[in-house]
Amino acid sequence: MRDLIATAVAVAALGSAAFAEGENVVIDPPADGSVNRNDGLAAWARIYEVTSHPRCSNCHVGADNIPMWSGPAYGKARPHGMNINAGESRIGAEYVTCSTCHALRETGLNDVPHAAPQVAMDWRLAPVEAEWFGKSSVEICNQLRDPERNGDRDHLDLASHLDHDVILHWAWNPGGGREPAPYSLQQHVNDILAWGVAGFPCENDR
Ligand code: HEC
Ligand code: HEC
Repeated sequence: MRDLIATAVAVAALGSAAFAEGENVVIDPPADGSVNRNDGLAAWARIYEVTSHPRCSNCHVGADNIPMWSGPAYGKARPHGMNINAGESRIGAEYVTCSTCHALRETGLNDVPHAAPQVAMDWRLAPVEAEWFGKSSVEICNQLRDPERNGDRDHLDLASHLDHDVILHWAWNPGGGREPAPYSLQQHVNDILAWGVAGFPCENDR
């Protein structure tokens, strides 16, 4: 039962939201040994374009716990306005919780420029171990293949990652004039699987 179909249950339940026209993500890894190092590195290059994209990296920030506002819709990259700090909880429990503005709402403002994305009840920063903002390809590559820093996930776990699906679907259909993450969620999943089957190569390996 390794062929999982990641039906985004939560997304489907949203109904009205624009990104809910959900495609299902099919998790169908290539056969063991069928992806060589070069193809694995090519898959990684696409993964890096995604992970370093503002729709992902704005939440994948470091130990200062401050989300970022960056990408074409924001002009110059800068820390989240209004003095937002997610604290060590990464959800703002120590200050103002993210859900004050980012909670899932029936009539989400996701198509309105400069309104807070409202696609998930538990909108929060990614774990500090998964810091991607401003990091190089080699740095993110080594983080994402390190079980101690990737939530102890193999490529199948990374690819399914169901809890996270709502936000991932949003990142490819963010509305409000925001630039979507590159490629597609399905292509990203395929690349993660190919990279894993190739043995998680990074450019600094020899
Ligand atoms: C709203 C903030 C937010 C955005 C935007 C976001 N993430 Fe995350 N990400 C999280 C949170 C929270 C976790 C930890 C929860 C979990 O592991 O399910 C996480 C964990 C992950 C993980 C688990 C592996 C690891 O190293 O911890 C991956 C992979 C990931 N995100 C990929 C992405 C990608 C790809 C995008 C953009 C398409 C993205 N994320 C956008 C918040 C975000
Ligand atoms: C007072 C309301 C408010 C609170 C509280 C808040 N945000 Fe935001 N957030 C916004 C608004 C408004 C925007 C959109 C700004 C824009 O598009 O110009 C935004 C955008 C973002 C973005 C950028 C999304 C993108 O386009 O890539 C991230 C990341 C983010 N918030 C994370 C958080 C996190 C994490 C928390 C909790 C620690 C939080 N926010 C708390 C109002 C808020």
